[in-house]
Amino acid sequence: MANLVNLRPSLSLSYDQECAAKRTSLSSRLKSAPSRLYIRACSTDDSLQPQCPSLAFSGDNSSTGGWKVMGTLLGLGAVLAYHDHRCRATQESPHIYTREEVRSHSSPETRIWVTLGCEVFDVTEFVDLHPGGPSKLMLAAGGPLEPFWALYAVHNQPHVREMLAQYKIGELSPEDKAPSTLKTSDPYIDDPVRHPALKVNSQRPFNAEPPPELLTENYITPNPIFFTRNHLPVPNLDPETYRLHVVGPPGGQSLCLSLDDLYKFPKHEITVTLQCAGNRRSEMTQFKEVRGLEWNIGAISTARWAGARLCDVLAKAGHQLCETEAHVCFEGLDSDPTGTAYGASIPLARAMDPEAEVLLAYEMNGQPLPRDHGFPVRVVVPGVVGARHVKWLGKVSVEPEESYSHWQRRDYKGFSPSVDWDTVDFDSAPSIQELPVQSAITEPKDGETVQSGEVTIKGYAWSGGGRAVVRVDVSLDGGLTWHVAELDGEEQRPRKAWAWRLWQLQAPVPAGRKELNIVCKAVDDSYNVQPDTVAPIWNLRGVLSNAWHHVHVHVAP
Ligand code: MTE
Repeated sequence: MANLVNLRPSLSLSYDQECAAKRTSLSSRLKSAPSRLYIRACSTDDSLQPQCPSLAFSGDNSSTGGWKVMGTLLGLGAVLAYHDHRCRATQESPHIYTREEVRSHSSPETRIWVTLGCEVFDVTEFVDLHPGGPSKLMLAAGGPLEPFWALYAVHNQPHVREMLAQYKIGELSPEDKAPSTLKTSDPYIDDPVRHPALKVNSQRPFNAEPPPELLTENYITPNPIFFTRNHLPVPNLDPETYRLHVVGPPGGQSLCLSLDDLYKFPKHEITVTLQCAGNRRSEMTQFKEVRGLEWNIGAISTARWAGARLCDVLAKAGHQLCETEAHVCFEGLDSDPTGTAYGASIPLARAMDPEAEVLLAYEMNGQPLPRDHGFPVRVVVPGVVGARHVKWLGKVSVEPEESYSHWQRRDYKGFSPSVDWDTVDFDSAPSIQELPVQSAITEPKDGETVQSGEVTIKGYAWSGGGRAVVRVDVSLDGGLTWHVAELDGEEQRPRKAWAWRLWQLQAPVPAGRKELNIVCKAVDDSYNVQPDTVAPIWNLRGVLSNAWHHVHVHVAP
């Protein structure tokens, strides 16, 4: 059987084998109702569950037992025949459901329904069999499977469809098959369609992160689930008429570059992790209220970016490194109702340094940039906070001062924990550029129950400025004792460690423990470490949240 939502190429068993193994263990748990899977597969409503026949004969005496067994078997035969008939009836005139009804079946209590095309399936009994784990399938609960199958193409196979067919309970009503339309007055009307696995922090502007269980599933984050941080509506830009304005030095010539002009510069490709300054803000909020979106641990993702080097484009426009301080200012083509565009800047020294590999990127993971991530051109500044990676890039200029944008001067800065909104002076703090060392646990999830014996812990670690992660320490007892995790992913180049390391640890669960307080912390090649608690790094905007990451789990008895 196949994994409905998730692709796990590393599994040694085939999906069929793994599913069969899981089904064996599930059916031994369902000893008292051996026909239940079959009955559920054919059922058209929830009312059938109590009718499951019981094959428990305890208490029978031997003289009447034989008749009772036969009667039970005949009864079971009749039930199966009845349900077989119901199944055929379902095929002949399927039960019709609205999307609203499907949406309301998204938990084990209400039963778990999903749709594929116009068909509706009750996969409650399959959730425990899902080779990628129940939590992955639960991401699609109450909604369509297509976006997940598109991401994990292994599902699109005849035997998976056959297996799914067993769980069919009906079809979507014809009115519900067409996608719903939005009102035209909405400034976000042209925003792209997003992947339903994303955990949405705000719909307008759109801000969302991948769930922890998908975040570290791949070293390279698939484009549809790469975290999205927008401050404004997504502009709808025509690649034919798109132009990038590069302001020349005083007395020099400015450039007006089409996409084709950009393609003529040498193409440079690098793997870079992008992290929002607000990643893990929700942990700061738990300590004391902050202003900002409640990001969990997923405002971070990794992609392979390709484009022209900024240093080549600036050189073409006649710019050189100068003795005095200077900044490269970027302007996006997204703007608010007053026409103010998103903007940010980086020091000229970084922009002109070929080793810093700052890109004007037009490709993300081998594809043109998706609209949410800056189509057709964005800045990628390796090792630097996400806010400076300006999307939908319209203008580049070299200035004696930092960008005057709100997001450069009045946001994305760090302050002492004692500074509040009455005392804050934004001019007193430097804008965030390189980020500090960071790590988080993606598996297991907080509150989960893990098996006794051995526990597998997974996560990510990254540091700013090209500093490599050299070690990740993991504790099962809140930081009293530590294990060293195994680092996966690409080898890192010295001083150019632009991308994260994924890590994992398999550790024995100490005997007799009912709960584990799992903690991780990373160390980079400057021996920077993460602070142990939030309190000393708390700040009013909830940025730079990189304290030890904790996950509390229960141990199965
Ligand atoms: N660029 C523009 N033009 N507009 C924006 O809202 N958001 C910034 C940056 N670039 C933003 C932008 C912020 S705060 C972050 S963290 C990154 O884009 C997020 O990039 P992503 O959405 O591709 O993950």
